[in-house]
Amino acid sequence: MSKTPVRKGFTIWFTGLSGAGKSTLAHELDRQLRARGVPNVEILDGDVVRENLSKGLTFSKEDRDINIRRIAFVCHLLTRNGVPTIAAAISPYRETRDYARRLIGDFIEVHVATPLDTCIERDVKGLYRKALAGEIGEFTGVSDPYEPPLDPEVVCHTQEETLEESAGKILAYLEERGYLAPLRERTAETVVMRGN
Ligand code: ADX
Repeated sequence: MSKTPVRKGFTIWFTGLSGAGKSTLAHELDRQLRARGVPNVEILDGDVVRENLSKGLTFSKEDRDINIRRIAFVCHLLTRNGVPTIAAAISPYRETRDYARRLIGDFIEVHVATPLDTCIERDVKGLYRKALAGEIGEFTGVSDPYEPPLDPEVVCHTQEETLEESAGKILAYLEERGYLAPLRERTAETVVMRGN
């Protein structure tokens, strides 16, 4: 079997509003990585983590920070063991994301920059309607802050790009930075292996 094209562990850290498309993009990236022969991608999704590792936490700044630090810690463990890791949580605070960046090291921040209006229009979970009606408090973008990244490695404009294009931009970045062997090189390796 040919070896994995991943040369070094990394964390793709998605940040963006609720309903921006972080989870959908995380799963598309996972799909594309696996299609490239990467067998062991791990996803830490905000909703899933809050059902397990962070059960009982609220959406106060303190609890969101605890949630993000927990996710960052798990990403750190996986990344240092060479596992391609994807985090998909709102992670609204710049300072806490920077903490994750420092802890993890091989950290690629991806801003899923879907505008608030679009998220409200889509309202996939029906939560914006409730937040705008005042039925849910401390709702990111409505009654709670979201601090966009100032210098993210990749920005995904989900209303202008297809899912495949957004994920493709991230793969291209991984290749460019040497985390992932380029497709061409792998083809050459395969040819050499067959030649033997
Ligand atoms: S984070 O702020 O701590 O990073 P996280 O990504 O784990 O948030 O969870 C966000 C998800 O929780 C949203 O996608 C939404 O489904 C749900 N949610 C429930 N209440 C809130 C709220 N007040 N603000 C934001 N998201 C909320």
